[in-house]
Amino acid sequence: MACTFRRSIAAQLSRVLDLPPENLIKSISAIPVSRKEGVADFQLSLESLLENNNDHLRPDIHDQATRLAAKLKCDTVVSEISTGHGTVNFKVNRELLTKTVLKQVLEDDSQYGLKSELFCGLSQKKVVVEFSSPNVAKKFHVGHLRSTIIGNFIANLKEALGHQVTRINYLGDWGMQFGLLGTGFQLFGYEEKLQSNPLQHLFDVYVQANKEAADDKNVAASAQEYFQRLELGDAQALSLWQRFRDLSIEEYIRIYKRLGIHFDEYSGESFYREKSQEVLKSLNSKGLLQKTMKGTAVVDLSGEGDPSSVCTVMRSDGTSLYATRDLAAAIDRMDKYNFDTMIYVTDKGQRKHFQQVFQMLKIMGYDWAERCQHVPFGVVQGMKTRRGAVTFLEDVLNEIQFRMLQNMAAIKTTKELEDPQETAERVGLAALIIQDFRGLLLSDYQFSWDRVFQSRGDTGVFLQYTHARLHSLEETFGSGFLNDSNTACLKEPQSISILQHLLRFDEVLYRSSQDLQPRHIVTYLLTLSHLAAVAHKTLQIKGSPPEVAGVRLHLFKAVRSVLNSGMKLLGITPVSRM
Ligand code: ARG
Repeated sequence: MACTFRRSIAAQLSRVLDLPPENLIKSISAIPVSRKEGVADFQLSLESLLENNNDHLRPDIHDQATRLAAKLKCDTVVSEISTGHGTVNFKVNRELLTKTVLKQVLEDDSQYGLKSELFCGLSQKKVVVEFSSPNVAKKFHVGHLRSTIIGNFIANLKEALGHQVTRINYLGDWGMQFGLLGTGFQLFGYEEKLQSNPLQHLFDVYVQANKEAADDKNVAASAQEYFQRLELGDAQALSLWQRFRDLSIEEYIRIYKRLGIHFDEYSGESFYREKSQEVLKSLNSKGLLQKTMKGTAVVDLSGEGDPSSVCTVMRSDGTSLYATRDLAAAIDRMDKYNFDTMIYVTDKGQRKHFQQVFQMLKIMGYDWAERCQHVPFGVVQGMKTRRGAVTFLEDVLNEIQFRMLQNMAAIKTTKELEDPQETAERVGLAALIIQDFRGLLLSDYQFSWDRVFQSRGDTGVFLQYTHARLHSLEETFGSGFLNDSNTACLKEPQSISILQHLLRFDEVLYRSSQDLQPRHIVTYLLTLSHLAAVAHKTLQIKGSPPEVAGVRLHLFKAVRSVLNSGMKLLGITPVSRM
């Protein structure tokens, strides 16, 4: 158990340093396999200790490390103590390492790493995650795709940590596009097409209506008038709008399901049409609303009349804007969910928008504005499918499936698959997710299908392949066993590396939970897969004595278990065959 080791090292250090063990836990980390110094498993970084307790230790950390190490003793857990660059290193008793890690992984299974003392004292929080949020009848672009997979990851992670998560899809379901759609549908809409393929049809109608409106003033005026009717709550106009919305959502639910994603709430800008008016009233009564010469109304964010820092919240005709509706939505969600944290996932282009919204909430006196967080991500360029630039989420999924099926056709086992389509989609999605999650979320990148599906190297295909291979190993030989006599059989450096790597899973989860970046988990899982590939080649099962085979199988099962939970956190459905 990673926590037993860390705790027991902390206990000894605590006696020597006269510091409470809790202050030491986070300074003790499992040593990454690639940067392994000798064969130690854990290290205490004096630098990180100094940050927290600088009055206890003086800055000459190398001497400090040596002096500290001299005061420490080996015990039943620690078998060797050494020093590195400002670190004290601990090697754990090998048999104990094998037994504890393997037992813990298989006992905790999907909870492995999450029960660690690193998460100790973490209380259950109410977390709202708003993500995906496409616009009805408009393009579903790569930004929406990124929001979808990143938001899902954050929601998964928060949920795994024991928080109560509400997933909200905040649709762009209001605005002038519905004026155009209403008018356009009367002119060139088809009921059957709306029923059979609503997203495509609404998009087509919207595009055509836009074109007509540009050429024909009457169409433009009629669209304007249609939207006015919607704003005024005209029942007939609203009922058509409602159908567009309902059919679109139905279709979205089906497509998100292919991604393995669900939402607890489909909300949208339309919900806040009336509540925005209340927000405007409240701003006004607080003396925060300023009318402009143009008849619009703004909020001064600087509080000092700085004209460069105002946010427009009302059009000259009295209707609300994007920002106003976000104010209303935030207030409404606070009423409804009483959240401890609310996370918005959009591209970095909306950074300023969210800063302004949070700032306005604060000026309005809502202290909980501090609980709102925007998670921005970078821009992806050049994603194209066979149908051209990305317009629909479904096109991306179909493209993934198509390309992956082609790749798989080259491998002979594909024929034996029960549902090659489904497998292709799952493997392909893993590939897409991994290449998107490998860097910092904020970085921009140029999209390339070749990079996504690279057959060699660090891809989602490789993770899925490793998972499937380990699964088939279990199917062929069973999942092994662990007892007092066979723990000693796991001695090879390949297996020790795996055990050491498994020790680190909690730290990796902890890092991702701190900065909400999936890349820590991605890198970890790729390394795990590489280690597993080496071990798979060298640690034979067939022909080995039963104890050796038993403990090796157990090790492989542990790897698969951690790989499985890590992939699921990232939003990947692991396959058992490919
Ligand atoms: N529908 C918006 C867009 O496509 C994203 C919504 C983001 N969320 C929000 N609360 N404003 O740009």
